[in-house]
Amino acid sequence: MATVAQATVAGPSIRPLGSALGAEVTGVDLSRRVDDDTFARIHRAFLEHHFLVFRDQALTVEQQIAFSERFGPLEAFPEKDKQKDAATVYNVANVTADGKKLGSKDIQVIFLKVNARWHTDSSYRSVPSLASLLYCIEPLPDEAVGGETEYANMFAAHDALPEDLRRQLEPLHMVHYYEYGRRLYPELPPMTHHERVHVPPVCHPVIRVHPDRGGKRSLFFTENAGGEIGGMPLAQGQALHRQLVEHVTDPRFSYKHRWRKGDLGVWDNRCLLHRLREYDEDRYRRVLRRTTVAGAGPVVGPFSRQ
Ligand SMILES: [Fe+2]
Repeated sequence: MATVAQATVAGPSIRPLGSALGAEVTGVDLSRRVDDDTFARIHRAFLEHHFLVFRDQALTVEQQIAFSERFGPLEAFPEKDKQKDAATVYNVANVTADGKKLGSKDIQVIFLKVNARWHTDSSYRSVPSLASLLYCIEPLPDEAVGGETEYANMFAAHDALPEDLRRQLEPLHMVHYYEYGRRLYPELPPMTHHERVHVPPVCHPVIRVHPDRGGKRSLFFTENAGGEIGGMPLAQGQALHRQLVEHVTDPRFSYKHRWRKGDLGVWDNRCLLHRLREYDEDRYRRVLRRTTVAGAGPVVGPFSRQ
């Protein structure tokens, strides 16, 4: 039976979104502590659908952190370029904390543009994140074009690879480096000493196995933290990377989420890639707040020693 501090809910209702991934959750108020049985249902749905959106939430920073921590300990952000309310909260916004609109040439906005390329959050860390939670405070107006977050299912993308390419990819790795954004946008300031210490380049397998899905294999690479697959001549590694980008961009693997005010999205970074769809940053305000669940350990591939 629920304690006084717990929300009494009839139970959330979970409805799939699209055929590739995603589900919508209604009938749960995340501003209050959800009981353990309800959270277990939510967690099962998270593993099954990979992306969940909880509609019509009204969450303070503390409430978002509290719900996020049900999935595990949160990452803190050592990077100086992120606007933060707390060490574990990243404001994904083209607006400053005191409400001032930033233009498309502003450094903070350029950093967000890097995320218009396929990625998983924190892939450039030695232990990439397990999940991300994004809460929509100020969505784009209906008439605005773009601004969605597009997700792609890397289980499905992996399974659809030709057999010979899958075999070729199995032992390969990619170097993910935080500095890559500076290569894409040289106008960005150089990494600080602090950032170089905390986020040096790291190497991850290109095929990973999911610890909570019985070792199911998925494709794992990004295009915001590197541009080549390792273990072969450079031009060949770059060509293979381009081929994979083209492969995962196939709409049959993806779901595009248009954020509504009060949406809280949570997704599994261990089996999805995502990217921001571009919009007119000079014209529109867009404010979301991210919390990020830390990974439990290094990325495990078919040949990793565990
Ligand atoms: Fe992201």
